[in-house]
Amino acid sequence: MNEKKIVAQVIAKELNDELTSDKIYELLESPKNIEMGDIAFPTFSLAKKLHKSPQMIATELVEKIDVSSFEKIEATGPYINFFLDKNAVASDVINEIVDKSESYGNQNIGQGRNVTLDMSSPNIAKPFGIGHLRSTVIADSIAFIYEKLGYIPVRINHLGDWGKQFGMLITAYELWGDEEAVKAHPIDELLKLYVKINAEAETNPQLDEEARAWFLKLENGDKEALALWQWFRDESLIEFQRIYDKMNVSFASMNGEAFYNDKMDEIVDLLEKKGLLIESQGASIVDLQKYNLNPAMIKKSDGATLYITRDLAAALYRKRTYDFAKSIYVVGNEQSGHFKQLKAVLKEMGYAWSDDMVHVAFGLVTKDGKKLSTRKGNVILLEPTIDEAIERSLKQINDKNPKLANKEKVATQVGVGAIKFYDLKTDRMNGYDFNLEKMVSFEGETGPYVQYANARIQSILRKANFKVNLNLQLSFLENGSEHWELITLLKDFPTTVKRAADKYEPSILAKYVINLAQSFNRYYAHVRILDETSERESRLTLIYAVSVILKESLRLLGIESPEEM
Ligand code: ARG
Repeated sequence: MNEKKIVAQVIAKELNDELTSDKIYELLESPKNIEMGDIAFPTFSLAKKLHKSPQMIATELVEKIDVSSFEKIEATGPYINFFLDKNAVASDVINEIVDKSESYGNQNIGQGRNVTLDMSSPNIAKPFGIGHLRSTVIADSIAFIYEKLGYIPVRINHLGDWGKQFGMLITAYELWGDEEAVKAHPIDELLKLYVKINAEAETNPQLDEEARAWFLKLENGDKEALALWQWFRDESLIEFQRIYDKMNVSFASMNGEAFYNDKMDEIVDLLEKKGLLIESQGASIVDLQKYNLNPAMIKKSDGATLYITRDLAAALYRKRTYDFAKSIYVVGNEQSGHFKQLKAVLKEMGYAWSDDMVHVAFGLVTKDGKKLSTRKGNVILLEPTIDEAIERSLKQINDKNPKLANKEKVATQVGVGAIKFYDLKTDRMNGYDFNLEKMVSFEGETGPYVQYANARIQSILRKANFKVNLNLQLSFLENGSEHWELITLLKDFPTTVKRAADKYEPSILAKYVINLAQSFNRYYAHVRILDETSERESRLTLIYAVSVILKESLRLLGIESPEEM
C-alpha cells in the first residue's frame, strides 16, 4: 500500500472530520531533506478551524497519532514529519520488483489504444541529418514509454519523398547526371546534383521553371519522372535502412509524403465544401487569422500541392486507420509554425481529434559550438559517426576487459547506446553540442556509465551465484542508510515513467537512471555486498532489483544492456 495513503489515514483518524483523508493526501509534501523524514504534513490549513497556532497543532497531533506503522513521527515547527519504517518499505518495493521483474511500473492507462508517432522522416536524396537522428531517438523512446503505459505505439516514418525538390533533382540529373556514379554513391551524388542545381538556379531562373514543370509531371504520373523518382527513392532507402539497422530502430509504416498523392483531392474537396478555401493570387489558401497564424497554402497557382497538403491527408488517414488516442509528431522546433497551422486547419474542418495531435519539438545540435550547415562544411555524417562511436567503445573495452566474449556486439551496444543516451539526457528543447568523446566516455552522465553499473551488478551476482528468492524477509539494519537512497529511487520508478510520458520528455527517465547508477556506485563503494553476514541475501536482492530497473530504464530509452563489458 502507498505510504502516503497510510499517512493520510492515520492523520484523518485523529482529526474527526476536520479534514478528509483525501484532502490530507493532497496536502502531503516531501521534506526538504532526508534527515527530516520521508513525508511531511503542513498544519497551516487547520489553524483557523481549530483556533490554534500551526506549531501547537503539530505538537498536539504528534502525541495522538498511531505510530505503529512508522519508525517515528516528529513535530518540527508547523510540520509533522513521518519517518517510514524503512525495512518494511524496502521489503515491499524489492519484493514487488522481484515478483514483476521488468513489468514493474507497467500501467494500463492506454488500455490498448494506439498512439501514432511521426518520427525520423528523413528526406530522400539528402543525407540523414542530425535532426533526423534526434527525431528517431526521442520518438523511439516515447514509443517505448507509452507502450509501458498500456498504449500501442505505431512508429511511422513520414519520409520526405515528394515535393518540388524532386523536380529540381530530376532537372539536375537530366542535365548533369551520371548513372554509374549515382549507383555507386547514391546520396553523395544526388546531394551534389541538388546543391549544384540550387546554386545555378540562383542566376538562371529558367532552371527553376524546368524543375516546377518536372514536379508537375511527377504529380500527374509521368512515366519517365516516376521512374527516376522511384530509383532515387530506392537507393536512398537502402542507405537509410543501414542506419536504422545499426540503431536498432524499426517502423510499422514507411508511408512518406508520396503515399498521400491520391489522398489530397479529398482534402481539397472537403475544404471547398466547408467553404474554407480562398483564392489568393491564383493559389488556394485557408485563412487562419483567428488563430493568429499565417494563412495555410493548400495549392499553388499551378495546381501543385504542398508539404502541408500532404500532412493534412496524412493526419486524416492516420485517424481513420489507427483511431489514435494521440498523434505525436517528433519534429524540430523550427517547424512549430507548420504544426500549428496543420492543427488549426483540421480544427476548422471540424475534427475535434485535432486536439489529440501533439508536436513534440526539439532544439538544435551544434558542433564545436557552431551551427551545423551542409553548405559551410560543418556537418555530422551519421553513418561514419556511429561507426566511430562503436570503434571507440571497442577500444575502451579492449583496455578494460580484453578477454570479453562478443566484444564487437558489446561495442555496438555501447557505442550506439552512447549516442542515444547523450541525445536523450538533456531536456529535448535544449540542443547540445555533439561531442563523441564525451558521449562514449565511461565516466560522467553517459550511457556507458549506466550500462557499466548494470554490468558490475551482473558480475557480482554471478560471483555470488545468486538466485532470486520470492518473498524474502529483507533486512538492512547493519549497513546504515546507504541502501535507502536506492530504495527511494526504485520506489519512484513508476511515477517517473508516467511523468516522462506526460511531458513527452525521455530526459526525465535518462536523468533518473543516471541517479540510480550513481546511487548504486556509492552503495558499492561503502557496503561490502558479498560479506558473509545474515544480510547478504538482502543486499544481493537489492542490487538485483536495481539491475532490473537499470535495464528497464535503458530499454525505455531504446538502449541495450550488455551483461558484461
Ligand atoms: N521530412 C521533414 C524534414 O526533414 C520532416 C517531416 C516531419 N513530419 C511531418 N509529418 N511533417 O524536415
